[in-house]
Amino acid sequence: MEPILQTQKLSHVYSAGTPFQRAALTDVDLDIYPGEYLGIIGHTGSGKSTLIQHLNGLLKPTEGKVLFRGQDIWESKERTRQTRFHVGLVFQYPEYQLFEETIYKDISFGPRNMGLDEAEIDRRVREAAHFVGLRDEQLERSPFELSGGQKRRVAIAGVIAMEPEVLILDEPTAGLDPIGVEQILGNIRDYHEAHGATIILVSHSMEEVARTVDRLVVVNDGVIPFQGAPREVFQHGDELEAMGLGVPQMTRVFHQLRAMGVDIDASVYTIEQARRAIRDYRSRKGAR
Ligand SMILES: Nc1ncnc2c1ncn2[C@@H]1O[C@H](COP(=O)(O)OP(=O)(O)OP(=O)(O)O)[C@@H](O)[C@H]1O
Ligand SMILES: [Mg+2]
Repeated sequence: MEPILQTQKLSHVYSAGTPFQRAALTDVDLDIYPGEYLGIIGHTGSGKSTLIQHLNGLLKPTEGKVLFRGQDIWESKERTRQTRFHVGLVFQYPEYQLFEETIYKDISFGPRNMGLDEAEIDRRVREAAHFVGLRDEQLERSPFELSGGQKRRVAIAGVIAMEPEVLILDEPTAGLDPIGVEQILGNIRDYHEAHGATIILVSHSMEEVARTVDRLVVVNDGVIPFQGAPREVFQHGDELEAMGLGVPQMTRVFHQLRAMGVDIDASVYTIEQARRAIRDYRSRKGAR
């Protein structure tokens, strides 16, 4: 399968030539495939936001390329513009970027920019609102009357209403309570399933990505040291720990069991997998 998005030797240097010069990404090669649910994880300042802002042409590479469906997104102005419609980006703390007087107007901002007709805009606004659990009668209210979690869902709806093929979310659950976290992860999963969209979820939390994504990309100091299925990435427990990341608690317990000489499958990160590993261990012991 051809990647939907690709970075080739992507480097980004902020404030080049000034005393504040900072290399945020160095020679990053990353392939992202249509329909996958990708997680990006890394410590504060590792380069996650810088990386994803290149994927929809918000930042321009200092060196290297970004390709969307095999074509350089900076090839022409029109291509950059089109990429921004197909690759939707929800910023970190997007609730601070709501500005319209009604929720409806806020969600319709993106589709309106795309030049769609009024009926299509209306359909998309209602569908996007529905995805994030907003009721029709809330649409004429001011976004500023909402709670923090609800505001964030309005901001996500504004990007979903553009019906992007790739939906990128920069730490969408940061600072929310556990119920708010579950709602947002549920909204994203619904969009993923209903549209077959590619999802890129940036997160700080190993626990969160472990149970949501198909593939995990670790960013550390502007490079990608590991990527793969979560269970593969978690094999690098000590290195992840050294990057200030750490594996899920469940995985740590199983690694410790193995270190103590228990012959158990340690590539475990959910309760269900733990149950299976223990059952498997017990049946093997019983069989001996
Ligand atoms: N506009 C900017 N100008 C200069 N340096 C920047 C700018 N934005 C980010 N940086 C620096 O680039 C590096 C990568 O930052 P980035 O925001 O991509 O990290 P991050 O992984 O998203 O962090 P966080 O988890 O805190 O959101 C950091 O050292 C940061 O200080
Ligand atoms: Mg960030």
